[in-house]
Amino acid sequence: VVVATADAERVVVIGVGLLGGAIAAEVRREGIRTLTCSRHPPPEHHASWMPLDVTDADACRRLCDEVAPTVIVLAHGPSSIEWCTANPDAAMGAHLTAAANIVAATDAWLLLASTDNVFPGVKEAYVEDDETEPANAYGRAKLAAERIVTGRGNALVYRISLVYGWQRPGSRDTFFHRTVRTLRRGERLKVPYDQWTTPVVVSDVADAVVRLIGTKPTGMLHLGGPDRVDRVTWARTIAESFSLPSANVVAVASSETQYADRPPNSCLRSTRALSIRALDGFAPRGIRAAACDLRRDENT
Ligand SMILES: NC(=O)c1ccc[n+]([C@@H]2O[C@H](COP(=O)([O-])OP(=O)(O)OC[C@H]3O[C@@H](n4cnc5c(N)ncnc54)[C@H](OP(=O)(O)O)[C@@H]3O)[C@@H](O)[C@H]2O)c1
Repeated sequence: VVVATADAERVVVIGVGLLGGAIAAEVRREGIRTLTCSRHPPPEHHASWMPLDVTDADACRRLCDEVAPTVIVLAHGPSSIEWCTANPDAAMGAHLTAAANIVAATDAWLLLASTDNVFPGVKEAYVEDDETEPANAYGRAKLAAERIVTGRGNALVYRISLVYGWQRPGSRDTFFHRTVRTLRRGERLKVPYDQWTTPVVVSDVADAVVRLIGTKPTGMLHLGGPDRVDRVTWARTIAESFSLPSANVVAVASSETQYADRPPNSCLRSTRALSIRALDGFAPRGIRAAACDLRRDENT
């Protein structure tokens, strides 16, 4: 992807975890000036990183005055559904305050990563215009942030399904990585048979973000992978792709797992992606092709 306006852009990525780290790396690869921010230095420490607590309004304003960003990518936590369930007020406070601070501090185009958990998860899949009704505290906090960001305009909210890839140093573990790690140890892995997702590889999301920076569309966009899959089928596909014993994937009810506070369906479809010119030719990978690519990438 070549972003024609690369020289004119100053991109700030807030949050350098699984998603923000991959996005920042991809944007930098395009030669775009990119600053990353988080509260603590990321393990892959880069010269163009600055400390920022996005819930601190003065700090956000200082950063925006100093850097004059053209794009701000909001990819900060709290990202754990389980943590948000245990700390609903703190989760709401963090996402709401962060969105309000950035909206007040800049006129830059904003890109907010959001989630399928803004939906109740009772339908097979959700499109951009579907009615929201958050499934949990995490979904409520992210929906509050969505509303602040879209209310200002000049912003794109992209809801993504479960993101996966190899775990980056300092970032969250992913279902994919945990599956490979556990099966390689020869251990059994309990996986819910009653949860469906449209998982998407983090590098595909980063690719989409770079394309979007080129034209800065606004509004709402869903970014899910092409496969709607239950976790057991997904884990067994990963096992096969890594020549690991799929019999060690044990199907259980989600209530018996760490994924208890998630709806049955975390699935997204897009009615909008095809009309966004920047996404012409963008095709996120399905679970089998991605598992093969990730296996190859591990050895390169
Ligand atoms: N991963 C997914 O499957 C997925 C799916 C849909 C949406 N999302 C959304 O994408 C965003 C990022 O997710 P992720 O999986 O990349 O999370 P992650 O790996 O947990 O990374 C979160 C990043 O945010 C930073 N952060 C947390 N609080 C901050 C604060 N107050 N100020 C500045 N930085 C802060 C963290 O660093 P410090 O702790 O050092 O500050 C870290 O760099 C989340 O908002 C999540 O809702 C993720």
